[in-house]
Amino acid sequence: MATVAITGAARGIGLELAAQHIAAGDTVLALPRKASPALEELAASSGGKLTIHLCDVANDASVRAAAASGDGVIDVLYNVAGVTGPMANELEGADWDAWNEAFAIMVQGPLRVLQAFLPRLREGSRVINVTSQIGASTWPMGGFYSYAAAKAALNRLMRSVATDLKPKGIVIGLVHPGWVQTDMGGPNAEITPHESAAGLLKLGTEWTLADTGEFRKWNGEPHAW
Ligand SMILES: NC(=O)c1ccc[n+]([C@@H]2O[C@H](COP(=O)([O-])OP(=O)(O)OC[C@H]3O[C@@H](n4cnc5c(N)ncnc54)[C@H](OP(=O)(O)O)[C@@H]3O)[C@@H](O)[C@H]2O)c1
Repeated sequence: MATVAITGAARGIGLELAAQHIAAGDTVLALPRKASPALEELAASSGGKLTIHLCDVANDASVRAAAASGDGVIDVLYNVAGVTGPMANELEGADWDAWNEAFAIMVQGPLRVLQAFLPRLREGSRVINVTSQIGASTWPMGGFYSYAAAKAALNRLMRSVATDLKPKGIVIGLVHPGWVQTDMGGPNAEITPHESAAGLLKLGTEWTLADTGEFRKWNGEPHAW
């Protein structure tokens, strides 16, 4: 049975991923920035297998405190936390506070979390970063400037991290989770959180060092960069 840590576990894909790992008999460190009733319910019904450690991925002290809440090995660390930011094009002005927030959460956040948990990662541990098709150069639409830029930066950043951690045997994955029916994806999205999380769990269980730093879809297919 694995021990996994999940940021952004309060709702959406992160919450469903936590539920599926619990159902699989794994131990889950849920890392929400604030707990939600649904996550607290999951913890209460998990027989002690799911513990909650508050973790605002944009805040150094918060992330370090969450990582220091134990010293056991983490088999899979999922960087899930994300925000949409402004959706329109920003050709005539931008909300720079929103840009800073997007980068703090979706670029610096995953690195900050990885740094803090690195002492708890071992050969064979996996770090699965939930990114987006919108960060790929092949994404055909405009808009989403800060979100697209942040996810593209995350992809490039984690490719470098993958190279640097390969000698330690730590695997880095980049995953587009699909267009998912969550608060972020909206009700008309293509797949359910259950389908998305099932794909992420499979990738988190199977990703090999030979494929470290690759970009995939939730169903395991390669994603264009
Ligand atoms: N849904 C989609 O269609 C889709 C598509 C492509 C990629 N993604 C990516 O998938 C990931 C999960 O998205 P989702 O659809 O599950 O979104 P969601 O339902 O909006 O949930 C976002 C989660 O991120 C958390 N979060 C935001 N800022 C945080 C911070 N500073 N520290 C810790 N947690 C924070 C939120 O916590 P609070 O409850 O505290 O706000 C929430 O739990 C994101 O990285 C997103 O970019 C989603």
